Amino acid sequence: MECCYSPTTNPSFSSFKFLDCESFSSTRFSRSRLSSPRLSNPFLKVNDRINPISHQHKIYYSRTYKKTIYAESRNQGWDFGRFVKTLYFFNGPPSPIKIFESLIASFSSPSASEAEKSMDASGIILVAGATGGVGRRVVDVLRKKGLPVRVLVRNKEKAEKMLGPDIDLVVGDITKASTLLPDYFKGVKKVINAVSVIVGPKEGDTPDRAKYSQGIKFFEPEIKGDSPEMVEYIGMQNLIKALKDNVGLRSGKLVFGFEDGSSRVLPWGALDDVVMGGVSESSFLIVPNGSETGGPTGLFKGIVSTANNGGFTSIRTKNFDVAENLCGYDGLELRVKGDGRRYKLIVRTSRDWDTVGYTIGFDTVKDQWQSIRLAFSSLRPIFRAKTVVDALAFDPSQIISLQACFPNFSSFILMFSKFEYDGKLNPTFVEGPFELPVSSIRAYIADPITPRLVHVGSAGVTRPERPGLDLSKQPPAVRLNKELGSILTFKLKGEDLIRESGIPYTIVRPCALTEEPAGADLIFDQGDNITGKISREEVARICVAALESPYACDKTFEVKCVVPFSEQYTVDPENPPPEKDYDVYFQSLKDGITGKEMLERTPVSV
Ligand SMILES: NC(=O)c1ccc[n+]([C@@H]2O[C@H](COP(=O)([O-])OP(=O)(O)OC[C@H]3O[C@@H](n4cnc5c(N)ncnc54)[C@H](OP(=O)(O)O)[C@@H]3O)[C@@H](O)[C@H]2O)c1
Repeated sequence: MECCYSPTTNPSFSSFKFLDCESFSSTRFSRSRLSSPRLSNPFLKVNDRINPISHQHKIYYSRTYKKTIYAESRNQGWDFGRFVKTLYFFNGPPSPIKIFESLIASFSSPSASEAEKSMDASGIILVAGATGGVGRRVVDVLRKKGLPVRVLVRNKEKAEKMLGPDIDLVVGDITKASTLLPDYFKGVKKVINAVSVIVGPKEGDTPDRAKYSQGIKFFEPEIKGDSPEMVEYIGMQNLIKALKDNVGLRSGKLVFGFEDGSSRVLPWGALDDVVMGGVSESSFLIVPNGSETGGPTGLFKGIVSTANNGGFTSIRTKNFDVAENLCGYDGLELRVKGDGRRYKLIVRTSRDWDTVGYTIGFDTVKDQWQSIRLAFSSLRPIFRAKTVVDALAFDPSQIISLQACFPNFSSFILMFSKFEYDGKLNPTFVEGPFELPVSSIRAYIADPITPRLVHVGSAGVTRPERPGLDLSKQPPAVRLNKELGSILTFKLKGEDLIRESGIPYTIVRPCALTEEPAGADLIFDQGDNITGKISREEVARICVAALESPYACDKTFEVKCVVPFSEQYTVDPENPPPEKDYDVYFQSLKDGITGKEMLERTPVSV
């Protein structure tokens, strides 16, 4: 709540301070001052007629709060009806006891750090297929770098045995959409997908696929378990559907507003200084043709006054039924028509009324439509108008509401206020009418964009159908594509889903995978032409490096090492080669090359 009273920690209520209310935050009132006869109008006074349980200026609302609240004012009538309406909008049907209990509960709420319980889990990297040959090495590389990892696996016991009992683990099967629960993606910002249809030797193998570690010998392969279509295509569809809602889209996510045929409205309500006895008043409405393009826009407008010690207006969304997960994004972009004033956006990640609001001020330019980017990293945890030094980090996966003075992922608030925080004043504040058209609020991914999904595919995916190819010179998977349930065809279809998804991606297509160590010189190529081998450990390192490289974003490439099949690559454990700067390779990559260009080329008739 922007503004309300709180008893101090002194249980005798010998002094009071205002809660979270910028205007009053630093004001302290002694008991004697509060009840001074010199104060002609009460700031917040509940009279006997409206509350049946009040008696002789003493009100017995709860066991913890028993005094009438008074404060000084600039002598203007207070609109009790609007006060009740405000509480009704945010708290439901107006039971007087409920209203005052909710108010009083906020007076006596715990400290900010106790009140705020959201988890700080942003930035987790989810590894799908973490029990596979590449996947488990990806986990290893991430852990060595100290990065937060979660794994998505089919078999918990197998995963714990392989990765240790302390691994952050979720159980799911990508072929079954219902097993990919939204909770799995909370706090996840990036994903490495090393899931693959299982191919094993026809003659059998040990459960840990020992034959793949025996060096260069050809085993007649067959599909084990789910078909390539199920894993590589249907499974990819399911995974992408789950990720789209969670890891972020290149074009961002509309949180509120109207854009190119799409729209999203939020349950905004006014939350003005009336809740503390002030007389400022605001509203939020949709103007059908008020946007810069003549389309609809939201309009935050009102009249702000410092009478009765007030000085702020805001609009706040009701708490969202399901917390808005914006973990995949870096901030919120507001499209507003400025009026030269400074406003605030507050985002809340708790359902409680009186909690930390992650707050940021923004300046507007008079009479100009402008896009204002507010980075999550610059949100300041504010509680009762003061910065909370030890607040939990902002968790963009848990937005409950917005307030304009804007804030919550459980709610948002947009605000125009005389007060900033920590005792500072808004330099642009003037009393009187104001208007802020807001046509959209969009979550955005900051530039330079880096991949959100790194996928381990396979060299050769475009070759089975490629005209004029000498199959005898191709790897087994290309030659045996049909026998293996069209494995490469479905891998390509899965890749296409990624490229079309709008999720910033990298597709790494290794040549034949080996159990050799990383370290050999590499060849990166595009167009799906090369053959050769590469170490699984090296592929894992490439995947992790791609996560942070803008050069790797939206690229598809093949990779192998320079060492021929006939030669075993080894390293001296005492003197291992230095880790590569993979950006050098990523920088050579081009957009839009997949090898499908060859399939689309029509043969020249002779
Ligand atoms: N082998 C090669 O020479 C070669 C060459 C080029 C490219 N590639 C490609 O490189 C990639 C990685 O290879 P790899 O050797 O690491 O593969 P892998 O060892 O076979 O690992 C596959 C992983 O996917 C998981 N998985 C399979 N189906 C799943 C499902 N429905 N839901 C969730 N997880 C599932 C497996 O889990 P379980 O442990 O539960 O089975 C396993 O963790 C694959 O796409 C492969 O096709 C391989």
